Amino acid sequence: MARECPFDPPAEVRALREESPVSRVRIWDGSSPWLVTRYDDVRAVLADQRFSSDVDSPGYPATSAGVKARRKESRSFIAMDDPDHARYRKMLIGEFTVRRTESLRPLVEETVTELLDAMETLPQPVDLVEAFALPLPSMVICRMLGVPYSDHGFFQEHSKALLDVTVRADAAKHANDELRGYLAELVAAKEREPGDDLLSRLVERRIHTGELTADDAVGMAFLLLVAGHETTANMIGLGTLTLLRHPDQAAEIRGGDPATVAAAVEELLRLLTVVHTGRRRAATEDVEIGGVLIRAGEGVIAAGESANRDPGQFANPDELDIHRRGNHHVAFGFGVHQCLGQPLARLELQIAYPALLRRFPDLRPAVPVEEIPFRDEMVVYGVHALPVRWDTAV
Ligand code: HEM
Repeated sequence: MARECPFDPPAEVRALREESPVSRVRIWDGSSPWLVTRYDDVRAVLADQRFSSDVDSPGYPATSAGVKARRKESRSFIAMDDPDHARYRKMLIGEFTVRRTESLRPLVEETVTELLDAMETLPQPVDLVEAFALPLPSMVICRMLGVPYSDHGFFQEHSKALLDVTVRADAAKHANDELRGYLAELVAAKEREPGDDLLSRLVERRIHTGELTADDAVGMAFLLLVAGHETTANMIGLGTLTLLRHPDQAAEIRGGDPATVAAAVEELLRLLTVVHTGRRRAATEDVEIGGVLIRAGEGVIAAGESANRDPGQFANPDELDIHRRGNHHVAFGFGVHQCLGQPLARLELQIAYPALLRRFPDLRPAVPVEEIPFRDEMVVYGVHALPVRWDTAV
């Protein structure tokens, strides 16, 4: 389904949510999984472990041939069910507590300042994605994992191929093999020479104790590296563009009041829902959702981007309202697979938006919206590039 407006989910999804909120849709491989579009039903699916995240579950509705190939080749816990999923996830929980994440604040603040300093010196127009939105989360996740940022060209190119739904299975497999090979070498290097980073801790505390194989650690590193930068990067790119279209609300964020900024980040997460291809699951038993019987072996796509625009849950759901109350969006998913990196994503976004808007008070897109390349073909929605201009830098 194609978007008519780059800032809203497809009208067809809205129509289904109103008229037939649990309905069959035809997908790329000819199968017809159920598309679930209402907020309560999406949460019910994601909270129910009778729906499996395992690509090998009968009926599992893969996003594309490439994504299917990648998930089969490179199994990580996002594509597993409990108890295996819980066993792996638990090993990382300590790395993503609010306290541990808070300790990254100075690193995030310094990185933001450095990137903005560099951006200020560039000839205009500047591509905000290249200069700021992508390098920030990428540098932070690299530092956290212990991956050299100097290799970013290599892993960004491959993770791009892995997240493009138009990429063929063989190309996705190639990108997958390259990235896994790179991370396997890195894990081996951490075994020889550990540092103060997440991968070294996995080696010392999990591989050496026999809880984790080196291959499992590669799978985890892979998931974190890919999940950790494209998502946040696109929230910065598309989020900034959205704010520039709402100057009054941008001005409030520029003011920097922490509660206002935190609420604004939640509202942008809800409105934009950049992980927009739906949470994919397969029923392992017969389950009723929204009055419809979904049988064991049937696929389900729980459309978070539609749930987050459900007027039954959110008043004026298509409007940006940074003062919205009770914003229990599902942009980070829901249930056992709910995003592990959300404290880090929140920290980065809460620092990035006000810092950018303060540095360039008259920041504006350098091209009309029709000329901005939106990421319709990618698993993570956003903008491929965002040319911007400014007259004043503070
Ligand atoms: C704004 C940024 C982000 C968004 C919108 C986002 C969104 C999501 C969503 C929707 C899921 C659920 C997947 C499912 O139910 O199948 C998820 C899972 C996950 N995310 Fe994020 N994410 C973001 C940032 C991050 C970051 C920064 C990291 C790591 C550093 C991360 C790591 C993960 C991991 C490991 C999972 C799998 C959790 C599990 O299966 O138990 N994410 N994310």
